[in-house]
Amino acid sequence: MKNLLEGIEDVLLLGPGPSCVPQEVYDALSCKTLGHLDPYFMTIMDGIREMLKQVLKTENALTVPMSGTGSAGMEACFVNLIEPGDKVLILINGVFGMRMSDVAARLGANVDILEFAWGTPVLPEAVEKKIRENAYRIVAVVHAETSTGVMNPVAEIGKLFKGSGTLYLVDTVTSLGGIDVRMDDWGIDALYSGTQKCLSCPPGLAPLSFSERAVAKLNGRKTKVPNWYLDLSLIANYWGAKRVYHHTAPVNMLYGLYQALALLLEEGLEKAFQRHRKNHLALVGGLKELGMEMLVEEPWRLPMLNTVLIPADVDELSIRKRLRSEFRIEIGAGLGPLAGKIWRIGLMGHSSRQESVSRLLAALKILLPTT
Ligand SMILES: Cc1ncc(COP(=O)(O)O)c(C=O)c1O
Repeated sequence: MKNLLEGIEDVLLLGPGPSCVPQEVYDALSCKTLGHLDPYFMTIMDGIREMLKQVLKTENALTVPMSGTGSAGMEACFVNLIEPGDKVLILINGVFGMRMSDVAARLGANVDILEFAWGTPVLPEAVEKKIRENAYRIVAVVHAETSTGVMNPVAEIGKLFKGSGTLYLVDTVTSLGGIDVRMDDWGIDALYSGTQKCLSCPPGLAPLSFSERAVAKLNGRKTKVPNWYLDLSLIANYWGAKRVYHHTAPVNMLYGLYQALALLLEEGLEKAFQRHRKNHLALVGGLKELGMEMLVEEPWRLPMLNTVLIPADVDELSIRKRLRSEFRIEIGAGLGPLAGKIWRIGLMGHSSRQESVSRLLAALKILLPTT
């Protein structure tokens, strides 16, 4: 039988994730598998936790990579913090905010939503008004809305909950590693991310962190966490001093994350953010020269996820297909109301390189109709 893996091409991943993976991370993934309770593996786990704390800018003891993709991180945050009837507010300006409200509603939360137009940011003034009218147990927002390319003002929103009993839950799946995330300074109580975006690791793990307040809510639950696999009180015992078996940790994926975090910290967080910004500006400038405009107003543009409006005379699907087949470049389509209207061009992690920008612009120059 033909081995299909031999047919895998080297594709430049410029979609909304996964992003390109550096060779060092591939090498790490292929290190010898150790037992998940092996003493040496435990030291690697400790290393991952320490590096995650640095990347998240947090002192939280409960900082772990969950087994599963970003959505597992989302589900884990909600399932551990919500008890039936809890009042929850979800701030929505794209697909991932909508997914949050679906997850929270399935857990029996009393969910309110506050919606903002897709392509525009969440407005802190509107949130302030809403929380004056109602007391919420949890308020949740997406930092980098991958469906629209908008950066939400997570720090400003966080200030609204200071001294209140509200827990602040933030999705950093697309932002972490590409723009600043300051979990402790911004008053975030529960945060999750994913490995396959600006951390430059394949999909499969979801970094997660809970503040002391979030841990207190977890420990004070009147009802059991209604999901065994994602129950953080059990998972904390595996990642903590006791090392109690919960599930077989995905050992090699954790090697990959270890290496990816080490590379990011070796480069330096600030330098990584600057690199993302520089390549974003180069892309936006190049797209402008090709006659294309961005969906999002400048202050709210994400550097790692560029949403560009598709000109009326362009057959977006055929160009995306040709980019993949003739140029080995992947870019993303629009979702929901933005389907057919935008492309989503990711410059995330290891994909955020000058050569990615020039390769894509050169290909688009050939493919776009000339007027
Ligand atoms: C902002 C955001 N949140 C959550 C997710 C879900 O992550 P995953 O697809 O890894 O489960 C994504 C995936 O693109 C995302 O961009």
